[in-house]
Amino acid sequence: MLSRYLALDDFDPAAKRILPRCIYGYIAGGSETCTTLNGNRTAFDSYRFVPRVLTDTSVRSQQTELFGRSIAAPFGIAPMGAINIAARGGDIALAVAAESAGIPFILSAAALTPMEKIIDAAPSSWFQAYLPGENDRIIAQVDRVKSAGFGTLALTVDLPVPGNRENNIRSGWHMPLRPSLSLALDGVTHPKWLLCTAFATLAFDGMPHFENMDAGRGPPILSRTRSRDFGRRTALNWDHVKLMRDRWPGKLVLKGILAPEDAVIAQSTGVDGIIVSNHGGRQLDGAIESLHALPAIAAAASRLTLLLDGGVRRGSDVLKALALGAHAVLVGRPLLFAAVVGGQAGAGHAITLLSQEIDRNMSMLGITTFDQLGPTLVRRVPSSGAQPVISWKRE
Ligand SMILES: Cc1cc2nc3c(=O)[nH]c(=O)nc-3n(C[C@H](O)[C@H](O)[C@H](O)COP(=O)(O)O)c2cc1C
Repeated sequence: MLSRYLALDDFDPAAKRILPRCIYGYIAGGSETCTTLNGNRTAFDSYRFVPRVLTDTSVRSQQTELFGRSIAAPFGIAPMGAINIAARGGDIALAVAAESAGIPFILSAAALTPMEKIIDAAPSSWFQAYLPGENDRIIAQVDRVKSAGFGTLALTVDLPVPGNRENNIRSGWHMPLRPSLSLALDGVTHPKWLLCTAFATLAFDGMPHFENMDAGRGPPILSRTRSRDFGRRTALNWDHVKLMRDRWPGKLVLKGILAPEDAVIAQSTGVDGIIVSNHGGRQLDGAIESLHALPAIAAAASRLTLLLDGGVRRGSDVLKALALGAHAVLVGRPLLFAAVVGGQAGAGHAITLLSQEIDRNMSMLGITTFDQLGPTLVRRVPSSGAQPVISWKRE
């Protein structure tokens, strides 16, 4: 059944059919006009390959060194919050699929699965924190992540306030979900989701809660009155990063850097790596595309390990990002849609597809390892004037 999914983009329409409109909208959408969401895709289209030939590519390897560990392919799974409402056990499904494939999975601070459960199931997972500018909460969170046994901690820095995702309001999404007639109708018109995710979760796992925002358990996902305590997120600054650096013995990564100046500060603060990201177009609409931000950051902060996310859908996208200076990339929405469609097996199939595309393209590019990749193998071409590829509007 999974064999009919031939590319990562094939999972999106299939997941759209399964999911209630408000949940699909929460995942697929971006902020305001979706300029950055769309730009993430068109940025990849603005580069073309200049392949080399007759180089003997009979033995190829995707093995990549990331933070002192070897991973099987140069990509991982981006942190995504609250995904268990789209696929029952979604965090575990993605984490185990990643672990089996030898690539990293990053658990979100806004996940509905306790971090301790993830590390048991997939010991090489990373943890992504959302933190307020409050020392006591930072220390408590770092200590929990440390005692859970994670080796890599990513702090997301591009969410001082939530982005203006008006399409979420249009589609009926609110977090925590508010019981309402329209929410109930959205559920009953999507019976597979209603039975296999909503009912099965409530019957077998109980009411999901935000499990990882702090040292203790957060509020439930369905509530009229309770909401998450985000604390003073707008106060978060470089001093807090220094505090984390002092307290956290593992690898420290900042997610959501787009300016080379910030990459340079991150480097001097002792951070190990950064994720060049605009949060998949979900935060500041009009922010620069991750791919376009990458070359200047790679030039400015050469000691940092660089990851990139936003719009990666094909093996060719991965290779373009690597050619422009990334050591690896992260993929978000398509892998979640794959888990919605086929659970752990669906995510595993999607990982295999991406890895096969990378392998095939390596040969056609004339390379056998990623250290042969560089800016000479790609060329920026004038914009084709292509229309936005993703439009998330009121239907
Ligand atoms: C449903 C959803 C939830 C997300 N939740 C988080 C989160 O909790 N923390 C975070 O740092 N980024 C979050 N992101 C952003 C992703 O980590 C990543 O930056 C983005 O999805 C990459 O773009 P792509 O989906 O085009 O691959 C979320 C993205 C989606 C789609």
